[in-house]
Amino acid sequence: MNFHENSNQIDLSNMQPPELLFQHIPVMPKEVLDNLALFPGAIAVDVTAGGGGHLALMAEQIGATGRVIGLDRDHRAHAQDAAGGIASKYDNVELVRASFSQLQGVLEKAGIAKIDALLCDLGVSSPQLDDSARGFSFMRDGPLDMRMDTEAYPSVYELIRDSKEDDLANIIYQYGEERQSRRIARYIKKSWPLANSTLALAEVVARACGGKRGKIHPATRTFQALRIAVNHELDELTALLKMLPDILAPRGHAVFISFHSLEDRLIKQAFKKGSMPNENQPALWSLLQKRPLIASDEETKENPRSRSAKLRAIEKLDLILEETDAQ
Ligand SMILES: C[S@@+](CC[C@H](N)C(=O)[O-])C[C@H]1O[C@@H](n2cnc3c(N)ncnc32)[C@H](O)[C@@H]1O
Repeated sequence: MNFHENSNQIDLSNMQPPELLFQHIPVMPKEVLDNLALFPGAIAVDVTAGGGGHLALMAEQIGATGRVIGLDRDHRAHAQDAAGGIASKYDNVELVRASFSQLQGVLEKAGIAKIDALLCDLGVSSPQLDDSARGFSFMRDGPLDMRMDTEAYPSVYELIRDSKEDDLANIIYQYGEERQSRRIARYIKKSWPLANSTLALAEVVARACGGKRGKIHPATRTFQALRIAVNHELDELTALLKMLPDILAPRGHAVFISFHSLEDRLIKQAFKKGSMPNENQPALWSLLQKRPLIASDEETKENPRSRSAKLRAIEKLDLILEETDAQ
């Protein structure tokens, strides 16, 4: 079957493994599958395997003759109640503990030269957020950690401890787009040594911001910034976007879902750049939509996490075919 014919015939009703609904509800599942345009026998990669929601949907569509490589640098994703369980359930799924920047090496090791589809669903998963011991949330107390790869350096605690006030302010400004970054950094450093506690840090940030509590907690932007910094999230995303032209097969699709403007900007810029020819190369891909897709009202009601999701997708051009057509 041609994969373009396949893309509108998705019945999600029996593809949603019910046990996963408690772990991580996959965001925009229909839009993801439509834009991945999978086909039986395809080779696909889910670089953000997480709770395994999208991974299972992809495995179902690709069938026994295809392969889905799942990637996640967090050991939590490899547990049986997350993507690890999906890898055990489906013979066509292989799950690897690695980060985006290591993807080319992972594919080489698996004997894969090019892939037909790639999914990247950024951010953290519910199993990570809900476990206060991981320190991702200031709604419950936990250590100042937030590392996806718990063997990596630094944790948030180490980052704050080892950063100068100016560097900390820059992190909070750049990755949190926080206007009060200098004041917040000053308060944090003045309060050091702080208890290794997310609630203690959130309290200091709230004090720095004058203790005002609007709709959004004053520590939201600072926590986002620290998470992005300790996980090198923007560098990882940039590395993945850079390898896309080399790893996508002709007519291969890539789908990216982002949850804040810093990520979306990087994706938008890379997609736009590759969609336009320049003096060194022809256009690499076409954009599958002009504006990013967002979740439906129905989905945002059921899954509040989907509220800020933006989906962008591309299709790699088949340059040989295009040239022949033009002759
Ligand atoms: C939003 S969750 C994915 C949820 C998944 N789509 C599902 O349906 O359950 C994002 C996952 O990507 C992982 N992740 C984020 N950045 C990564 C990176 N640079 N390399 C590898 N894994 C990463 C996180 O550990 C997390 O488990």
